[in-house]
Amino acid sequence: DKIPATLIAGDGIGPEVTKATVAVLDALGAPFEWDERKAGMSAVNDGGDPLPSATLDSIRRTRLALKGPLTTPVGGGFRSVNVRLREEFKLYANLRPAKTIIPGRYDNIDIVLVRENIEGLYVAHEHFIPVGNDPRAVAVSTGVNTRDGCRRIARFAFEYAVSHGRKKITIVHKANVLKALTGIFLEAAREVATEYAGRVEVDDRIVDACAMQLVLNPSQFDMLLCTNLFGDILSDELAGLVGGLGLAPGANIGEHAAIFEAVHGSAPDIAGKGVANPVSLMLAAGLMLEHVGRADLAGRLRQAISVTLLEDQVRTRDLGGTAGTDAFTAALIRRL
Ligand code: NAI
Ligand code: MG
Repeated sequence: DKIPATLIAGDGIGPEVTKATVAVLDALGAPFEWDERKAGMSAVNDGGDPLPSATLDSIRRTRLALKGPLTTPVGGGFRSVNVRLREEFKLYANLRPAKTIIPGRYDNIDIVLVRENIEGLYVAHEHFIPVGNDPRAVAVSTGVNTRDGCRRIARFAFEYAVSHGRKKITIVHKANVLKALTGIFLEAAREVATEYAGRVEVDDRIVDACAMQLVLNPSQFDMLLCTNLFGDILSDELAGLVGGLGLAPGANIGEHAAIFEAVHGSAPDIAGKGVANPVSLMLAAGLMLEHVGRADLAGRLRQAISVTLLEDQVRTRDLGGTAGTDAFTAALIRRL
C-alpha cells in the first residue's frame, strides 16, 4: 500500500540531496508515492510565487512532505517560505533529534529538542519607525505566546517522551527577564508536566546557562522543550555537538500535516558541484518513516548510514572525506 507524499526538491543543493534520498528510499522499499512540487527560488524562477497554490494543494491532500532547503532572501524580498508553510499547516512542533553517528568531541550524544514552531518572536510583528538616517529610528518586534500554544507544544513533548522511552524533559526559558513571554511557557509546561509525574522527569533551565551546559556537559540532558527563538538557536548548537548541519534532521509536525527536512540551507557555495552531504535529508526521511509507522525501515536506514560512514569510511567533504553525493549514495545503497 503506497502512501502519497509531496516532494519538494528545493533550491541550491536541494535537488542533489533530494535525488540521493529518493534513491535510498527506493532501495529500502519505502512505501511513498511522490507528488513532486516546487517552492522557493525555483518556483519564483518558474512563474512568480515562491509558494505556489499547486504545492499547497498537494500538501493539503497528502498531509505529508519531504522538503529540500529553500533559499530565503535576507532583509527584503519574499517572506520565508518555511515560516509560511509552518503557519499555513499549523506545524506547531519542530522536532530536532541529535544523536552521535561519528564520535567527535563527544561519543554518545542523544538529545531530542522540541521547539515551539509558530509563536514567540517568529510571528514577526515587526515595525521599523524610520527617521531617515536619524539615530532616533526605532525597530520594534513583538513576541506572542499563548497559553494554549504553550500547553500544546508541552503536551507534544511529553507524549513524545512517553512513546519513545525518554526519561527527562528540561524546559528552556528566560523567565527571569522575559517574564511574560517565556514565563507563560514555563508555567504551562510545568502544569502539563504534572500529568506525566512518575513517568517523565522535568526540570528547567535558563536559556543562556543551558547553552553553556550543552557544551560543558551534554549528557545531563535528555529532551529540551523550547520556545521558538531559543529552540532555533539551541537546535543548531545540538547539530554542532554531533558533527554539523550535514548530519542533523528536522521535522515540522502539526495535527493535520507533517513536513520533514534537512536542517541545513541551500548551500549556494557548493550547489551543483555534486559534493553535498545528503545524510541530513536522509535522516529526515527516517523521521518520516517513523511518523508513518515504519520504524523498522527507519532503523535499517539509520544503521546503513552509520555503517557507511564508520566502517566503510565513505564520507563527503564536509565530514573530511572525498566522496561526492552520488558515490556516497551508491555506497549506502550497497549496504542496504
Ligand atoms: P547553509 O546551511 O546553506 O550553508 C552553511 C555552510 O554549510 C555552507 O558552507 C555550506 O556549504 C555548508 N553546508 C550546508 N549544508 C551542507 C551539506 N548538506 N553538505 C555539505 N555542506 C553543507 O546556510 P546559509 O549559507 O546560511 O544559507 C543559505 C540559504 O539557505 C539561505 O537562503 C537561507 O535562508 C537558506 N536556509 C534554508 C533552510 C531551510 O530551507 N530549511 C535552513 C537554513 C537556511
Ligand atoms: Mg534554524
